[in-house]
Amino acid sequence: MEPRSANITVHQGHVTREDRERLLGQRGCVIWLTGLSGSGKSTIARALEARLIRDGRLAYVLDGDNVRNGLNADLSFSPAERAENIRRIGEVAALFADAGVIVLTAFISPYQADRWQAREVVGAERFVEVFVDAPLSVCEQRDPKGLYEKARAGEIDEFTGISAPYEQPEAPALVVPAATLDIDTCVEYIHKELEARGFLRAAKR
Ligand code: ADX
Repeated sequence: MEPRSANITVHQGHVTREDRERLLGQRGCVIWLTGLSGSGKSTIARALEARLIRDGRLAYVLDGDNVRNGLNADLSFSPAERAENIRRIGEVAALFADAGVIVLTAFISPYQADRWQAREVVGAERFVEVFVDAPLSVCEQRDPKGLYEKARAGEIDEFTGISAPYEQPEAPALVVPAATLDIDTCVEYIHKELEARGFLRAAKR
């Protein structure tokens, strides 16, 4: 998105992202989890965050319900406002990644175009799209927040999977079959991907 004002100048500081990455001994990146409500995105993100922190990595979870409680409290679930939700989160994730942090995002992010935009803002080389794949029937049966029941009863509009679409990723970096694997195995999958991409060590000078 272009700034509304033409009188904006972007400044560079004296410290680079590489400086911060060397300090932290890791590379800033964004692990973008997408999937239906109840698919396990937040649980997986929290478990992976805990593991990374235990191993001495700086990781941070950005999560749907939490971000919608603050920064994005003004946004609804219409397609346009979901796009704005994801746009702001993409920008925040890009800033965190620039700070050298391993960012784990857990948003339904149902529209492919919005996820592509987030990848562009973050930079494709440090953005990993992970499809947390659990069928609607499983998510609906789990219904951890009782929202599917409400949506079926017509008490929630535009509920993803019921009365609003979910566009499956066309070419995700990773698919995690979250209905058939336990949490630790899902975490292990993603952790391996982080290792393979070299995010768990800083670039050499
Ligand atoms: S997104 O579609 O804009 O990416 P986001 O991940 O921020 O969604 O928020 C999803 C969470 O909001 C769900 O896990 C659920 O708890 C809650 N929620 C409330 N209303 C809706 C709705 N209409 N559709 C989907 N999730 C909803």
